[in-house]
Amino acid sequence: MAKLGVNIDHVATLRQARKGVFPDPVSAASLCEKAGSHSIVAHLREDRRHINDSDVKRLKKTVRTRFNLEMSIVPEIVEIACRLKPHQATLVPEKRQELTTEGGLCIITYKRRLAKVIEQLRKSGIDVSLFIDPDKRQIALAPEVGAKIIEIHTGRYAEAKTKLHREARLTEIIKATEYAQTLGLTVNAGHGLDYDNVKPIARISGIEELNIGYSIICRSIFVGLEAAVRQMLLLAT
Ligand code: PXP
Repeated sequence: MAKLGVNIDHVATLRQARKGVFPDPVSAASLCEKAGSHSIVAHLREDRRHINDSDVKRLKKTVRTRFNLEMSIVPEIVEIACRLKPHQATLVPEKRQELTTEGGLCIITYKRRLAKVIEQLRKSGIDVSLFIDPDKRQIALAPEVGAKIIEIHTGRYAEAKTKLHREARLTEIIKATEYAQTLGLTVNAGHGLDYDNVKPIARISGIEELNIGYSIICRSIFVGLEAAVRQMLLLAT
């Protein structure tokens, strides 16, 4: 079974609703770790719509497990990451208008730029993961641009409307994981995973970590954050 990384972005989304100081995503990260999460994930978006620069600095100081910074490849954010030195950077595509990360990175389009950014991050001592769709053409290019880790985008699986579609998407993810392993890549997965749909993904042998945010933060409103994390750990790990 996989490890669990908890994405705490939406604690900051709630804070930003009043642009105040609570709830504090950094305190939330500590509670997630206390409950047993294996890493903490936060996305410093270019528009700073939830997590901000001070949050990532404080997370770097306080996270006791592993700090996985989700980020785009724009120079401003790459420079921040190189200074900050999280344990891991997960490179994602980013559009201003989207509600959340809609698709995986297109390595085919950004091959040269990605290779440069990955080299820069790795020279700063940061492990680099690429958030990509379960697509063989994309996975094949990951080692070429210098990545050793990928995170498979599970959004299309999570959004599938019928059992048939969901099974087809699951098969895609299983095949993508198997293929990535033949290339020596570490495989993680995430996006849209919740308490109802996580189990089949968690059972895929070869997936090392699941990164889950929204569903855990939503459940925490009713049961508390530590309980929400523990309940997900029971299903996902
Ligand atoms: N992994 C990556 C790379 C993401 O961009 C996100 C969303 O921020 C997640 C995992 C978590 O997705 P969700 O909030 O839908 O669980």
